[in-house]
Amino acid sequence: MPDRLHLNLFTMASVEHVSPGSWAYPGDRSPGYADREYWTEVARTAERGGFDAVFFADVRGVYDVYGDDREVAVEKAVQTPANDPQLLVPAMAEVTEDLGFAVTRSTTYTHPYQLAREFSTLDHLTDGRIAINVVTSYLQSAAENLGLDERMDKETRYDRADEFLDVCYALWEDSWEDDAVEIDRESGRYANPAKVHAIDHVGDHFSVPGPHGCEPSPQRTPVIYQAGSSDRGREFAAANAEAVFASQPTEAGVREYMRDVKSRAADHGRDPERLRFFIGVVPIVGETEAAAEAKHDAYAAHVDVEATLALLSGFLDMDLSEIDPDRKVEHIETDAIQGTMNAFTRSQPDRDWTVREVAEFCGLGTTSPTIVGTPEQVADELAYWHEEVGVHGFNVKEIVRPDSLTDFVDLVVPELRERGLVSDPKSAGGSGGRRASGTNWGSGRSRRSGTSCGNRGGSTLRERLLGTGRARLHDDHPARREPASER
Ligand SMILES: Cc1cc2nc3c(=O)[nH]c(=O)nc-3n(C[C@H](O)[C@H](O)[C@H](O)COP(=O)(O)O)c2cc1C
Repeated sequence: MPDRLHLNLFTMASVEHVSPGSWAYPGDRSPGYADREYWTEVARTAERGGFDAVFFADVRGVYDVYGDDREVAVEKAVQTPANDPQLLVPAMAEVTEDLGFAVTRSTTYTHPYQLAREFSTLDHLTDGRIAINVVTSYLQSAAENLGLDERMDKETRYDRADEFLDVCYALWEDSWEDDAVEIDRESGRYANPAKVHAIDHVGDHFSVPGPHGCEPSPQRTPVIYQAGSSDRGREFAAANAEAVFASQPTEAGVREYMRDVKSRAADHGRDPERLRFFIGVVPIVGETEAAAEAKHDAYAAHVDVEATLALLSGFLDMDLSEIDPDRKVEHIETDAIQGTMNAFTRSQPDRDWTVREVAEFCGLGTTSPTIVGTPEQVADELAYWHEEVGVHGFNVKEIVRPDSLTDFVDLVVPELRERGLVSDPKSAGGSGGRRASGTNWGSGRSRRSGTSCGNRGGSTLRERLLGTGRARLHDDHPARREPASER
């Protein structure tokens, strides 16, 4: 078990993420989501609180499953409107030193050459603080917006995702050798062509000759986040993910998920202990227990049940407006997000949930547990999950913005620091380590140290998660283990 726990702020570049209705809470600043200053302030606060990363969810369509119409989604800001989170990263990186950025991108609606280039650029611009949360998307409306008549079925989406990552890995890991970049002004040679290789990928979905358009960035491959919850999704996570989002709401569900994904990772030849598991949590904290309870009740009173049903209808690809709210939720296999369904069926076999109960529960952070209490009580709960259940960290979900984040940073983080569970931001990576020479992320960059380029000096996001000196993917990862031609 790592000595400290990891924290992501799980958010979205939209008015609402996972607490429908809370934007209307008095004092909530969510409607400022389109302003640069909103996000630079989030970044500063998250870094002050020792967060490892800001983790952005993202969708490319509207939640129009509920009532077979987009009216509720638009009227109530159900993840609509939503800006592109990737474009916020440089501004947020500029005002921080150690904070990482995990950006959700779908392998279903972009091209791997394009995406590999974007993330190499972001990794350069952030000095190695970037991660990608690899999703395959679930909204039919996104499929239509991006040129398809029908959303691909889940198997096809994951087939495409497998090949998509193979192409990206080849571009990131195999194309440019570490010492390909020479920057020799006398001879006029910037890079050695013999050390820049084509990838010659030809597959079912993509044909990409390469070479990669970008020289090696600090981490080469961004840290891979994933949240697959179906059988195929777990397999995909086990093969590829370094940080895994276990979205089950119960301890038993989380334990089963971790056990299963670890065992699958071992089957893929990976050391399962190198995977970092995160669960979502919704902390509601007050100076006293009564204050925390009062805050919870006030937040709960603002939950918009209809907006929550619209969100869940998208997650499940099932029109919940047609179902009697007092009917028990029956398990189905969905082509959308299986984890949302499992949360109220498979993960809790002893409890019957009605549609209404699910909507009320999900109004505060969807499927993640709420933790209501004093700073000590919230810290106790997080410590329990970390020390007893074995999760490595938490995706902290907001209800009211920015109060959910500032309450956590100002009240809970000092308690966690006191217990040695969260490090001071200035000693990120657990060693006080700045980027040392001797890490293997490319000779091109060390040539630049001492100039004004690339000289931030903090650790990379991968090192924050896995330890100093681990800026690059481990050798047991398929991207490193197998030559591109054999993947
Ligand atoms: C916790 C969690 C968060 C997710 N976040 C996103 C997201 O932000 N954007 C997106 O398009 N898909 C997201 N997904 C969808 C999945 O990545 C995947 O595309 C979909 O759930 C189908 O696969 P699954 O059933 O294996 O999870 C998320 C899924 C889970 C479980």
